[in-house]
Amino acid sequence: MKNNLHISAPRGSDILRPSSKIVDQHDRTFDYLRLAVNEKCNLRCIYCMPEEGIGLLKEDLYLSQLEIKRILYLFSQMGISKIRFTGGEPLLRKDIPELISYAKNQCEIDKIYLTTNGILLNKYIKELESAGLAGINISLDSLIPERFKKITRRNKLDQVLNNIELVQDSNISSLKINVVFMRGFNDDELLNFVQMTKTNKLTVRFIELMPFDAHQIWKTGKFYKSEDIVRDLKNQVKGLQPVTGSNTEHYIFQVDGYLGKVAVIPSYSRNLCTNCNRVRVTADGSLKNCLYSKEEKSLRDEIRKGASDQELKDLVCNSFFAKHKDGWEAQRVEGNLRKSMTQIGG
Ligand code: GTP
Ligand code: 5AD
Ligand code: SF4
Repeated sequence: MKNNLHISAPRGSDILRPSSKIVDQHDRTFDYLRLAVNEKCNLRCIYCMPEEGIGLLKEDLYLSQLEIKRILYLFSQMGISKIRFTGGEPLLRKDIPELISYAKNQCEIDKIYLTTNGILLNKYIKELESAGLAGINISLDSLIPERFKKITRRNKLDQVLNNIELVQDSNISSLKINVVFMRGFNDDELLNFVQMTKTNKLTVRFIELMPFDAHQIWKTGKFYKSEDIVRDLKNQVKGLQPVTGSNTEHYIFQVDGYLGKVAVIPSYSRNLCTNCNRVRVTADGSLKNCLYSKEEKSLRDEIRKGASDQELKDLVCNSFFAKHKDGWEAQRVEGNLRKSMTQIGG
């Protein structure tokens, strides 16, 4: 592969692309890698997957463990200082502790996180602890058993709640609960979720529904805008104080005297794009420079064609240098839309 710069609309001829750090034309630096390690899931959340699941690719079209390790190492040389393993459900891969250890010890990345539905945590918690995992985000959309079953199509609420306790008792220091918040569906649980932060040192995050599902339940009036969630929180919860949080936690509060925090993530409204710092690699090895982008570059294909590290780095830098200003602009460009969030990695 040639060192071929595909730079769209540079702002000035004096702009030079640094050789290794991942930067764009909008003064953003990318230091957070979200790496999806599979597309399989043991739940069937209605906003994510149809009951019958999504058609999986032939096994050899997914990145192998060796390819994942190469990608981890490569990104560690490009200024990536935080890695989140996602999926699908990442704990359906038995080698997750090994990948975490590799990222920590061989790539010297300290901030390693996992986003999971929490069901298999009891099986892995000890290994995840010893591998040095810094934090876990658990998806949990309802605290009511029948409703949990309706959303996930599986009867596993107790297991997830027990596993949340296991994380609290472990030495994994950061714990966050992701609640995809939907009108007329789980919005009556607002106060119950906030209540979880009273005596637990965790962050409850209400997430806007995004249009990444083949059945488009998105179109059924369940969308609950982040600004409305914030307004309802302020109206219903006394003693909310603004505090600081991560980049996606665009709105974040703590109730006076409570141990945990409450955040709202405008994943659809996208007013977090100015601070975007994330790189995505899908389980089949595609590089995505925005969650909403349909233009992907296959790292897998380049690796299998024998690309050198420098060629792979150039591909990444060029893709990010051309990144759109925000998720709205990215979405306007034509391309193949993936069928489910489980193929994107969140
Ligand atoms: P922290 O590192 O703890 O802040 O986690 P995170 O929010 O980056 O990751 P997580 O996997 O827990 O994602 C939570 C929600 O935020 C999911 O619904 C994601 O799809 C959404 N999200 C994560 N990154 C982005 C992003 O870059 N843009 C948008 N629009 N949404 C995102
Ligand atoms: N809209 C918003 N969030 C979603 N997630 C999965 N699908 C969607 C969607 N369509 C969330 C999961 C998980 C995170 C990675 O993304 O609940 O917490
Ligand atoms: Fe970054 Fe795209 Fe997400 Fe905006 S929508 S924060 S640009 S990944």
